[in-house]
Amino acid sequence: MPIPDEKVEEVRTAADLVEVAEDYVQLKQSGSRYMGLCPFHNEDTPSFSVDPDQNLYYCFGCQKGGDVFKFVQEIEGVGFLEGVRILAERYGIPLPEEEADPEAANERESILHALRFAARFFYRRLTQSDRGRPALDYLRERGFSPTTIKQFGLGFAPNEWDALLTAAEEEQIDPETLEKAGLVIERDDGSGYYDRYRGRIVFPIFSHIGKVLAFAGRILDPDDERDQPKYINSPETEVYRKKEVLYGLHQAKRSIRQTDEVLLVEGYTDVISLSQAGVENVVASSGTALTEQQVGVLNRYATRAVLLYDADEAGERATMRGLERVLAEGMGAYAVELPAGSDPDDYVQEHGGGAFAECVAEHRQDLPSFAYQRARRNGELETPEDRVEVQRAIIDSMARIPDPNLRREYVARTSEVTGVPDSDLFRMLEEAREQIERRAQNRREREQRRQAQGKPAEASATEAPTSSGRGGPQTSAPKSEAPDPSSTPSAEPLPEERVLLRLMLENGSRMVGFVLGHMALDEFTEGPPRALARTLAEMYDDGAVEPKRILNGECGESLQQLGASVMMNEHEASAHWAEKEDISVPHLNDRPYEAAESAMKFLKLDRVKEAIEAVRERMYQATQQGGDDRVQRLQQRVMSLQELQKSVKQGNFLDE
Ligand code: UTP
Ligand code: MN
Repeated sequence: MPIPDEKVEEVRTAADLVEVAEDYVQLKQSGSRYMGLCPFHNEDTPSFSVDPDQNLYYCFGCQKGGDVFKFVQEIEGVGFLEGVRILAERYGIPLPEEEADPEAANERESILHALRFAARFFYRRLTQSDRGRPALDYLRERGFSPTTIKQFGLGFAPNEWDALLTAAEEEQIDPETLEKAGLVIERDDGSGYYDRYRGRIVFPIFSHIGKVLAFAGRILDPDDERDQPKYINSPETEVYRKKEVLYGLHQAKRSIRQTDEVLLVEGYTDVISLSQAGVENVVASSGTALTEQQVGVLNRYATRAVLLYDADEAGERATMRGLERVLAEGMGAYAVELPAGSDPDDYVQEHGGGAFAECVAEHRQDLPSFAYQRARRNGELETPEDRVEVQRAIIDSMARIPDPNLRREYVARTSEVTGVPDSDLFRMLEEAREQIERRAQNRREREQRRQAQGKPAEASATEAPTSSGRGGPQTSAPKSEAPDPSSTPSAEPLPEERVLLRLMLENGSRMVGFVLGHMALDEFTEGPPRALARTLAEMYDDGAVEPKRILNGECGESLQQLGASVMMNEHEASAHWAEKEDISVPHLNDRPYEAAESAMKFLKLDRVKEAIEAVRERMYQATQQGGDDRVQRLQQRVMSLQELQKSVKQGNFLDE
C-alpha cells in the first residue's frame, strides 16, 4: 500500500538527519555542517558530512549522498517504503495503515503489536512485581545492571498458565493473534490456549530496527532443568524467520559498523554480558547454526566476523561450518577459542571487557590454522590418508571464497600452515572448484527442467553459490525506486559545472531558464552531470522545476547522489579561478546570476580548450602523415576556436 505524499513529506520534515545518522556515525559539528567517519566505506579521516539545514548528507570519499530517506535505505538496505516506515515509527508519525481500526489492520501489524505488548508485559513483571523479584535477583546476581536489563528488554513470564493471555485480553488482543505470534499454544482438546512462557526469564528477540519478533525463555530454577529444556524459543511465525534474524543486532549495529567487525557468540547471555562490558559489536544466531542469510545481513554492516563458540566438539564443528560460510559470503572470518569450559560471559565477568577485547585481538585464527590445529588435537594427522583428508577439507572451504585473489592468498596460507607445497594445493583447489561448478551446473539443469514442467522453484536454492562481496542477499523489503537510467558512467563534473547545477537546484525555474538558455546540454559532462541538466531542462519545459524530486531520489539514484554532492560542495567558485582567468566570481548566494555567468564562461572556455587540444592532436597526426591541406584546414579551425575563446571571455554568448 503506497504512502500518500503528504505523509512522506510529514515524515521528512520530522526526521532530523543528524539525529538519524548519529545512530551509526559519531558526528562532530564543523561550521554549519556535521562531519564524521563515513558509514558506507572504510576511512580514517572524516569525509561524511551532514547539512542539517538542507537535511542532506554527502560523503566526499565515496560520493554517496541524498536525503534522510536515502540514508535509511542505504544504511539499512531497505527499499523506499520501508525506509519511510522506519522513520515514521521513530518519529511517532502514524501511517495510514496504522491509523485504521486495529482489527482491520493487516495481520503482520497485529502480530507485531501483540509481541510489543508482550515484551512490555514481561518487562513490567520483572521490574515491578513481587512475583518477578526472584528473577530480578537472579539477573542482578549475574551482574546485569538495570540499564542493561532495560536496553535488552529482559522480562519475566510468571509461572501461570494464562498470565499473558489474560493481560492481552484486557487490551483487546485476541488469543488467535497471540498464537500466530508464538506466545500461546492451543490446547490439545481445542478448548482454548495457554501461555508458552511460564516461570521463565524472557529475552525478546528484536529485528535490526528494534521491533520485537520473538522471545526466548530461560528457566529460572536450575533444579527444573532436569525435566525441562533450559531455553524454549519462539516457533517460526509470519514475522520471525529464524534464518534471517540475529540476536542483539539492533543494539550492536552501530558498534559493528564502527569497528567493521562483528563478534558471533552462542548464547543470549554472552551477547548481553559482553555488551554491558563495553564490547558492543556482538550478536548471536539464537539457537541455530549460522545461516547464509544471517551472514548476508552481517555483510551489510562489517567486513569481518569473529566466531567465539564453545571449546567443545559441537562448538568446534559449528566454528568450522561458520568460518566456511562467512568466507563464502566474501567476508573475513576468524575464530577465537576461549579457555576450555568458559564461555564469553564467564570470561568477561572474570577478566573484564578490556581483557576480553585483547584476547579476541590476539588469539584470532583464520580457517586454515584453526582447522589444522583442531585436527592435530583430535589425532587426525597421524596417517597420510588422514592428513590428505584434512588438507582437502581445508581447500574445499577455500574453494568457496568468491574473490580469486583472496582464494590465492588463502591457499598460500594453507601451505604455510600445513607445510604442503602450494603448487599441490592449487591443484587440489582446481579440483574443488570443478566440483563446485559441476554441482552448480546440475542444480541449474534441475531448475530448468522443473521450470519446463511448470513447477514452483525450490525453496530459494539451499546452497546455491551467492553473489560475492558486500551487500549479500537482500532480505529486506523490495526496492521501490524507479530504474535508474543514468547510472552507468560516473563521470566527474567539472567544478564550474557543479556550481551551475547547484545554482539551478537552489534557485529553481528562472535560473534553469537562464543557464540552459545559454548552454547546450552537450556542454555538460556526459553521464550524470548531463543527465541532471537534461532532467532540469525537461522539468522546465513541463513548467514545473522541482529540485526536490531530484534530491529525494525520484529521478534515480545517480542524480540524487550528484544533486546532494553539488548542494554540499565545499569547493565553491573560488578566487583561484578569478586569478587564473581574470574573470570575477561573485559569491553564489549573494549574486547568483553573476555567479552563473562566470561559471558558464568557465565551462564554455573549458570546452573550447578541449576542442582546441583535440584539433591540435589531429593536426599533429596530419603533419606526420604529410597531409598538407588537412593541416591547413585544421589550422584554420584552431584559429576560429581561439576567436570563440576570446568572445566567450568577453561574455558575448550572453547577448545572444
Ligand atoms: P548455553 O547453555 O550456553 O546457555 O546455550 P547460555 O546462553 O550461556 O545461558 P546461561 O549463561 O547458562 O544462562 C547457548 C545457547 O544455545 C541455545 C540458546 O540460544 C542459548 O543462548 N539453547 C541452549 C537453546 O536454544 N535451548 C537450550 O535448551 C539450550
Ligand atoms: Mn552462559
